[in-house]
Amino acid sequence: MALPAPNKDAVADNRTTMELGKVLPKTANVIDGHLFVGGVDMVELARTQGTAMYVYDEEDLRDRMRQYRTAFDKRCENAGVAYASKAFLNKAMARIAKEEGMHLDVSGGGELAIALAAGFPADRIVVHGNSKTELELTEAIQAGAGRIVVDSITELERISRIAGELGKVQDVFLRITPGVEADTHDYIKTGCEDSKFGFTMRDDFAFESVLAAISAENVRLAGLHMHIGSQILKLEPFAEAIDVMIELFARVKEACGYEIDELDVGGGPGVAYQAEDVPAVIDEFARIVTDALNASCEKYGVAVPRVLCEPGRSIVATPGITLYTVGTIKNLPGIRKFVAVDGGMSDNIRTALYHASYEATVANKADQPRTQIVTIVGKHCESGDAVVLDGSLQEAQPGDVVCVFGTGAYCHSMSSNYNGNVRPAVVFVKDGQARVVSRRQTYADLMACDVD
Ligand code: LLP
Repeated sequence: MALPAPNKDAVADNRTTMELGKVLPKTANVIDGHLFVGGVDMVELARTQGTAMYVYDEEDLRDRMRQYRTAFDKRCENAGVAYASKAFLNKAMARIAKEEGMHLDVSGGGELAIALAAGFPADRIVVHGNSKTELELTEAIQAGAGRIVVDSITELERISRIAGELGKVQDVFLRITPGVEADTHDYIKTGCEDSKFGFTMRDDFAFESVLAAISAENVRLAGLHMHIGSQILKLEPFAEAIDVMIELFARVKEACGYEIDELDVGGGPGVAYQAEDVPAVIDEFARIVTDALNASCEKYGVAVPRVLCEPGRSIVATPGITLYTVGTIKNLPGIRKFVAVDGGMSDNIRTALYHASYEATVANKADQPRTQIVTIVGKHCESGDAVVLDGSLQEAQPGDVVCVFGTGAYCHSMSSNYNGNVRPAVVFVKDGQARVVSRRQTYADLMACDVD
């Protein structure tokens, strides 16, 4: 894996930190040249607690959950907003989601275990995964998971059998691929037909599978589920996919009189990663979803189902930042300038994997303009190990604290111990207080599973 060629046309934007627009967490502020989040000095936090470190603006996290709940509650009855925990989960996060009245989307036994350990109510949990194991299904049914999203006929049969053995009737959703293309990175498109997820509409595969679920023993088909992809900024495909789904609701009703009660529309909208990006407003997302739902239900003559959605990124990406300390600076003459930090692809694989783009600032020079174009690289033995490719930054020195914005989603959850790097601590900041909610790993943690 190599770095993409340097962008020779990149020009430093001369922005200061507070000019970075929608990538900033809600409470970001600059005082005496230092970046503050949640009333806490990020420079002091980095220097006292050590880097690399993930920091979350707790007020921003809670505010986004409230925006989702308000946006749906004012438009429909009994809507459910399930936080997609794959974006970022630890026990503190599960507790916040619980306190904010969210449901929770988990994608397997591990996330389910964290949620239950944090006291998250099982009946508000939606269990995902295209290849859940026998054990994971048993754990979910035993725990009383609110909904299990069925991804194949094999799985439907398995759930039916396990629920029967446990003397239970399990509520399920069937995951349908509506055949709608969303405008996002190929790796995170999921609504198109050639996808490992769910049941395609082609050749009545989805329709026949819904009928099979309705007649399966020990399960109740509560609803249908769709997910068209992630980091979607243009919202029209959501409306298109909802229309396909509601047409299926109508066909099923006509075929056997069964009225499906719920529609889960999957993940939320994309976020701003670059200062000039304009992210979808949560309220607008809810409006588009509910308008489409009402219009399609009227068109096909079916009752409006209860709506659920499963946003991850739009709740945690922007409130989360990563702090690093600059280790070395290397200016390759005529090629590019590298600023190397004490983390990298082990705490943020997204740049290597998707060439994701981020905005960064030097937290101890946060009031200064970003006058240089640099590539912020990590400390790993891999050429593609970069965090920011050809981005604007202030003139940096070893020892400076670099903050990378918008790293709250799919960074911690996709982190690794590559090169024996310990996973960073996670710190929640609010009202001038910093709370370590996951401590930094130790070398002993790296060996904790080894058997002597
Ligand atoms: N529901 C389901 C069934 C999902 O698969 C996902 C994300 C979500 C909800 C949440 O979507 P969101 O609101 O976060 O867009 N690792 C990639 C993202 C993979 C998304 C996987 N599924 C990345 O770093 O961009």
